Amino acid sequence: MQTLFRWWWILGTVVFASNFVWSRGGDGRSLHMERLEGSAGDVLEDNPVGRLKVFVYNLPPKYNKKLLGRDPRCLTHMFAAEIFMHKFLLSSPVRTLDPSEADWFYTPVYTTCDLAENGLPLHHKFARVMRSAILYVATNWPYWNRTDGADHFFVVPHDFGACFHYKEEKAIERGILPMLERATLVQTFGQRNHVCLNNGSITIPPYAPPQKMLAHHVSKDTPRSIFVYFRGMFYDDYNDPEGGYYARGARAAVWENFKDNPLFDISTDHPTTYYEDMQRAIFCLCPLGWAPWSPRLVEAVVFGCIPVIIADDIVLPFSDAIPWEDIGVFVAEDDVPYLDTILTSIPMEVILRKQKMLANPYMKRAMQFPKPAQPGDAFHQILNGLARKLPHPVNVFLKPGERILNWTAGPVGDLKPW
Ligand SMILES: *[C@@H]1O[C@H](CO)[C@@H](O)[C@H](O)[C@H]1NC(C)=O
Ligand SMILES: *[C@@H]1O[C@H](CO)[C@@H](O)[C@H](O)[C@H]1NC(C)=O
Ligand SMILES: *[C@@H]1O[C@H](CO)[C@@H](O)[C@H](O)[C@H]1NC(C)=O
Repeated sequence: MQTLFRWWWILGTVVFASNFVWSRGGDGRSLHMERLEGSAGDVLEDNPVGRLKVFVYNLPPKYNKKLLGRDPRCLTHMFAAEIFMHKFLLSSPVRTLDPSEADWFYTPVYTTCDLAENGLPLHHKFARVMRSAILYVATNWPYWNRTDGADHFFVVPHDFGACFHYKEEKAIERGILPMLERATLVQTFGQRNHVCLNNGSITIPPYAPPQKMLAHHVSKDTPRSIFVYFRGMFYDDYNDPEGGYYARGARAAVWENFKDNPLFDISTDHPTTYYEDMQRAIFCLCPLGWAPWSPRLVEAVVFGCIPVIIADDIVLPFSDAIPWEDIGVFVAEDDVPYLDTILTSIPMEVILRKQKMLANPYMKRAMQFPKPAQPGDAFHQILNGLARKLPHPVNVFLKPGERILNWTAGPVGDLKPW
């Protein structure tokens, strides 16, 4: 009860003090002020233009436009980065029409845009679609064979990237598609020491529709009267009937420990005020689901709600450019039962500091794929990541006749033409 009392007091203070607390000085806070003032600075901002040239392969429409034409839901789901990256590159100043001067080759294939009726991608087809696209570029241009794909990048935004399955054990069993072993993978999935994250991959935020989020913005002065907020599944009874496998049990633990705790506004209902509610909350839980990542991370940053990341060993988007340790709170999966104590013991000045950093428009921009693109947004962060990998080590170029990839490796089902 004492904790509760303290929190009601602090909530009030956070709400009313946020405008002037930073003007008080002399007790060490001024140190933080220096770092936080000015809107840039917190996010590493590079301009990729002039630092790399990208050649965009022209693929038959069945690999991209036709899939999209059949199902426009692909434009708004959390895997849409593959489509927007394509559109962005077509008119980007880093694009070159001359493949002989390209640093990077990009194959615009929309693997997650073949949807079942329920809106979920038909994951059993991913590998075939991808293999088919690779075989197409490898036979129609000389560049793939020059490096076995090492100067090619692919956007693979599904749950476990190029492991192409939504269940972790199956994804691990499959491993990264052998044809993509040498390519640079641009993917939402990120977990340290995991077979589905190649060294050198670029971890990106999932897609969350920018216009839709913008439409739900509430006034900055809206009090943050919710302490902890979460909407989503705690169990997946259909795919994990015995429990404990989905989210490695972490979401179930959130529910079981805090469903009756008044500081926790958690439920499976998805209210129409979801985005508004995040702007009224101090902490937004971002637990793993089937994969460690979810759009909540983006939503939390965009809506200034401190992300509480519960996903051991997660590799966060653009972690070389975004100071995640400073803006988020990291809670080990095993520590979920202590979430209330952990969050209520965070000092107020730390909360205010994190909120202030989250208010930085550059932080929000780096998490989004806006239309039109803007400097520092997720598109540019991806290009920066690719530019930082240049020049390619000389050993990516194969000797005449040399082959590294095995074109027929992997599950037999993947070899069927698409
Ligand atoms: C690249 O190598 C594959 C396999 O050896 C071959 O089938 C293909 O024709 C080659 N591509 C080109 C453009 O020579
Ligand atoms: C990953 O790549 C980096 C840079 O190329 C290298 O320093 C590091 O040792 C590599 N790590 C592993 C596990 O191969
Ligand atoms: C390529 O992979 C297939 C399937 O696993 C295997 O049968 C074959 O021996 C491999 N080829 C080489 C050259 O390693």
